[in-house]
Amino acid sequence: IYFSLLAFITFSLSLGCKDEQSEKVTSNPEVSGLYQEKHRPQFHFTPEAKWMNDPNGMYYYKGKYHLFYQFYPDSTVWGPMHWGHAESKDMINWEHLPIALYPDSLGLIFSGGAVVDLNNTSGFGTKENPPIVATFTHHNMAGEKAKTNDFQTQSIAYSLDEGTEWTKYEQNPVIPNTEKIKDFRDPKVVWHEKSQKWILVLAAYDKVKLYASPNLIDWNFLSDFGIEGDTRLWECPDLFPIKVEGSDEEKWALIVSIQKDAPNGGTATSYFIGDFDGKEFKSDVKDQKWLDWGADNYAFVTWNNIPENDGRILGIGWMSNWQYALIVPTEKWRSAMTLPRELQLVKTELDYSLLSIPAQETQSLRKDSVSLDPFKVEGKHVLEGSFSPSQFEIVMNIDLKETTAQSFGIELKNGLGENLVITFDRAEEKLYVDRTNSSTNKFSEAFFSKKHSAPLSLKDDILKIQLFVDASSLELFLNDGELNFTDIFFPTEKFDTVSLFANDGNLNISDTNMYSLNGIWNIEKK
Ligand code: FRU
Repeated sequence: IYFSLLAFITFSLSLGCKDEQSEKVTSNPEVSGLYQEKHRPQFHFTPEAKWMNDPNGMYYYKGKYHLFYQFYPDSTVWGPMHWGHAESKDMINWEHLPIALYPDSLGLIFSGGAVVDLNNTSGFGTKENPPIVATFTHHNMAGEKAKTNDFQTQSIAYSLDEGTEWTKYEQNPVIPNTEKIKDFRDPKVVWHEKSQKWILVLAAYDKVKLYASPNLIDWNFLSDFGIEGDTRLWECPDLFPIKVEGSDEEKWALIVSIQKDAPNGGTATSYFIGDFDGKEFKSDVKDQKWLDWGADNYAFVTWNNIPENDGRILGIGWMSNWQYALIVPTEKWRSAMTLPRELQLVKTELDYSLLSIPAQETQSLRKDSVSLDPFKVEGKHVLEGSFSPSQFEIVMNIDLKETTAQSFGIELKNGLGENLVITFDRAEEKLYVDRTNSSTNKFSEAFFSKKHSAPLSLKDDILKIQLFVDASSLELFLNDGELNFTDIFFPTEKFDTVSLFANDGNLNISDTNMYSLNGIWNIEKK
């Protein structure tokens, strides 16, 4: 995949991203029209300009959530990776900061994590001023060209000023690639209270490798975790403890992004639930589950150092898919992050499930709200009110007992007839998201080739729908996170109509709240 990606990038660069490369960006939105561009998300994180992929190095410190990300500041397609940096008090309103990590003689700076080393185990700081320690992959281009196979190694860097300035450790790499594994990357660290050690997970082609360290510098290999017979490429692992909702039972979750054959094509984020004894991660289930059923939530990882009294597990994902990320039709920048999400673990009769719900901070986006009395839809019903159909949230309860329609849903549409249709199909027990007609600009075959779907039982009395729509994305949360679905889209003109529809019968809606949402980029707030 890497080779084809690199070949593609070289091809795109030679096709002429020159203008983009020489373009200068002014950060004053009023002057530059920045954040007003076509398709620009209004309440999701995007870089001011140029290429972004995975979220990296996320930690919370002194009241701020830090977000680093895979960044190529010279072009809108993937290229030599840096770590871009932004911070936020609420994971919603972001301030861009200078680039944190630049490529160096050991290589490009690929994905990884960061922790606040509160007890100064690394010795890079003091207990009074603890260091932030980032773990990342050095990707050596010369080694890759020479086919040495050991061109990805793990390195560290530290910051003594909360994350602005970074110093790379002089004796990098801290984990060399002795086994010569071509895909050997994305180290993320968590503190393991019981063994009083740092635990690092990284992706090694089709499995995850676990290491332990007392000081974030000296790492010992612990074990491998994989699925027998699985030969897909794994990336961006994240291992962390999580309590079962409403109980004291603690399990461990391992999130892994998978580069192939996701439920709706291409790449997606999956997870395993299991136990970790300080040495091995063992999962109760042989197969993984999908964290998000949509096509566009990749490399989802969680924040470290969330205070214990907060108790939440919070994370964010890259809202794209490697099948088409490089060619989506945005001009100044490429890609956005998902909304911040809280993960909750629930125990079912046979199993455990990781639910994703929008972090409660997303409620601060709400501007005007309209509550509707219970109503029935037969045929089509256009939702009207003081909200923009390309920037809103709707929370709605469907009374399935009183609903006679076999299928029903929500349609976003513009005057050109381009549309995106979300359908709940009771007979098929499926959710469909159809973006095949969402634009006449068919920039990628994979993007438009088929309707997306997810299994969904529609037998329960109430179906709770929470839907966020931004200029070029939708995030759908059903039944408080039981199923979530993230898809992006690029209509020629913004969607300007939202309607509900019911096929062969009626749709009974018991409760509806519609919200217009604030933009987050210096655009005046009410
Ligand atoms: C995932 C990924 C990582 C890698 C990074 C490079 O999207 O392929 O495995 O570190 O992107 O940008």
